Amino acid sequence: MKFFIDTANLADIREAQDMGILDGVTTNPSLMAKEGITGKDNVMRHYKQICEIVQSDVSAEVISVTYDEMIKEGEELADIDENIVVKVPMSGDSIKAIKYFSEKGIRTNCTLIFSAGQALLAAKAGATYVSPFVGRLDDISTDGMALIEQIVTIFTNYGYTTEVLAASVRHPMHVIQCAEIGADIMTAPLSVMKMLLNHPLTDSGLAKFLADHEKANLPVK
Ligand code: G3P
Repeated sequence: MKFFIDTANLADIREAQDMGILDGVTTNPSLMAKEGITGKDNVMRHYKQICEIVQSDVSAEVISVTYDEMIKEGEELADIDENIVVKVPMSGDSIKAIKYFSEKGIRTNCTLIFSAGQALLAAKAGATYVSPFVGRLDDISTDGMALIEQIVTIFTNYGYTTEVLAASVRHPMHVIQCAEIGADIMTAPLSVMKMLLNHPLTDSGLAKFLADHEKANLPVK
C-alpha cells in the first residue's frame, strides 16, 4: 500500500520524505489555508515547493466548481510540475472535467467521495484516483471502511485502473484496515504515520536489551 501524506506543511512533508516511506502528497484548500497560503501566486509557488521535496504524486485541488473554470485551473495546476495530479471535488461538472483531463493525459484525483456510485462514475470518466473519506463517514455513524471495501471490490470486478486512495484517515487502525482490504493508497497526517511506530513492548524490550548490555559490559572489579 502506498503512503501519501495529507498536509500542505513543508516541514511535515520533509520529515515523512526523510523517513523513506513516502509515496506522495495530498492537499486540499483547507490544508493550504491552515498553512496560511493564500492568493493564486503563493498557492502555485507552494505546490512547486512541495514537488521539489517529494518528486512523486502531489494532488493539487481546484477551487473552481464549473466545468470551464475547472479545465482552466486544472491545466494551470498541471503545468506547475509533471508530478501534479489535479484534484477535483465530486460533481457532474467534475466528471466531465475528469474525462477531458484523462483524454489529455492529465492525471486526476476525484475527492469528496462518500458513495460507491460516486467512485464508479469517477472511474468510468478515467480518474487516476478516487478519494473516499473514511473518517468523515465514521463521524456520522456510517462505516467508512465498508465504503473502501465496496469500492475495491467494484474496481477489481471490472478491472478499473483507477486507484482507491483512502482519505480522511485518522488513526493507525484505519491504516491497517485499509491495508487488509487492499486500498491502493492511504493518505494521512504525519502524526498518524508516526503512531504506527509505537508499541509499549518495543519500548520496554529495547530498554531491557540496553540495560542487559550495559550490565554485561561493566568493567570487572
Ligand atoms: O484527504 C482528505 C482529508 O484531508 C480529510 O481529512 O480529517 O479533515 O476528514 P479530515
